[in-house]
Amino acid sequence: MMTPRQSKKQLAEKPENGLLQTSQLMKLFKAELKDIYWAEKALTKVIPKMIKNATCQGLNDALTSHLAETTNQVTRLEKVFEYIGKDASSKKCDAMNGLIKEAKSKIKSYKKGAMRDAGIIAAVQKAEHFEIASYGTLRQFAKTLGVTEAVKLLEETLKEEKAADAKLSEVAQSINVEAAEVKIVSGVSSSSNG
Ligand SMILES: [Fe+2]
Repeated sequence: MMTPRQSKKQLAEKPENGLLQTSQLMKLFKAELKDIYWAEKALTKVIPKMIKNATCQGLNDALTSHLAETTNQVTRLEKVFEYIGKDASSKKCDAMNGLIKEAKSKIKSYKKGAMRDAGIIAAVQKAEHFEIASYGTLRQFAKTLGVTEAVKLLEETLKEEKAADAKLSEVAQSINVEAAEVKIVSGVSSSSNG
């Protein structure tokens, strides 16, 4: 079991982690870690806004459980930084920043109800797919670099992201049917039954 500072240094110096500090791939691994660390932390701030705006209980539940997972994923990334002997730090992720901007504009554009719920799902699934790509890459880098402990942690998160995406696809089925019933009145969406 790892103990704080001391073991962080030791782990980075382990012979089997010999590739760690000298490889160019390590530089890219660190950069990608900083990027996803920023993205996850940004998501912990924006998911509560989505929960507030979601009306469907199924969507609310899916977002609430993914918020808890996301907080845990932030902690997992901090452990990955520890395994490579670095303090956790973030760098603004332009891609996630753009996806979050899109999500906020979708919330603004549609009236609360099925349409806004469908917009939230569309936005969160884009973010999930970005994360799935990021964690897939990070896991592969960690494997190549021989950071076995990090591979396990990144794999756990990757599984959670895939499951969250599948859950949202499931929730979307009924929401999309409801949203399809919303008629466009003079360029503004309004519910046909309300
Ligand atoms: Fe995540």
